[in-house]
Amino acid sequence: MKNIAILLSGRGSNFLALSDAIEAGKIPARIGLVISNRPEAAGLQHALDRGYKAICIPSKGMEREVYDQLVVKELQAENIDFICLAGFMRLLSDWFVRQYPQRILNIHPSLLPAFPGVHAQRQALCWGAKVTGCTVHFVDEQLDHGPIILQHPVPVLDDDTEETLSARILTHEHEIYPEALKIVCEGRYRIEGRRVLIDPAPDQLASRQLTIP
Ligand code: GRF
Repeated sequence: MKNIAILLSGRGSNFLALSDAIEAGKIPARIGLVISNRPEAAGLQHALDRGYKAICIPSKGMEREVYDQLVVKELQAENIDFICLAGFMRLLSDWFVRQYPQRILNIHPSLLPAFPGVHAQRQALCWGAKVTGCTVHFVDEQLDHGPIILQHPVPVLDDDTEETLSARILTHEHEIYPEALKIVCEGRYRIEGRRVLIDPAPDQLASRQLTIP
C-alpha cells in the first residue's frame, strides 16, 4: 500500500478521479496528504469534504526553494511514497525533484513533447494540430519533460474551441492518471533511459497465456 500526496492549485478534477479510483480499491494506495498552494482552490475543499488530511501552504510571494522546503517537510512528516501533481501551477525546484527522484507524477493536457507549459490546449489549436491528447509522466528537473508513463490521443475537431477541446481531453486525463498511478503503485514498470516499460497486469497476463497456441 503506497502513501500518496496530491498537490493542486485549482478545480481538482484529477484529484477527484484519483481519489475515486483509490477509494474503489482499484489502486493499492491511500491518500495521506493533499496540499494546495492556493487557499481558494476548489480541490482543497473537495479533499477536506472527503476527509483527507488537506492543508494550504500559500505560495504567493515566496521564494521557490523556501516554499519547496515547507512542502517537502510536510511530505516527509507523512512518509509519502509518491506525489501526484494535479493541476499544481508551480514549478518545482531542482532540489524538490531530487528529494523524490522518479517518485513525482504529473498530468499534462497534450501529447508531450508537443505543447509543454501553460495553455497546452490553446497551443494545439493555434498550431493547427489535428491530434493532441494527454500525458502522464514522471517529473524531472525540466518542465513537462520526464519519462512518459501513459498517453492518450484526442482528435482536434474543426469546430473545437479551447473549452470543448479541453473538456474532451479532460475525460481522458481522468482515465489515464488513475491507470498510471496504479501501474506505479503496483511496481509494474521499469525505467530505461527515457522509456517507461510497463509489465502487463496479472489479469492481462493470464488472458495472454490462455491465447498462446
Ligand atoms: C488539467 O488539465 C491538467 O492536465 C493540468 O491542469 C489541469 C488541472 O485540472 N495540469 P484539475 O484541477 O485537475 O481539474
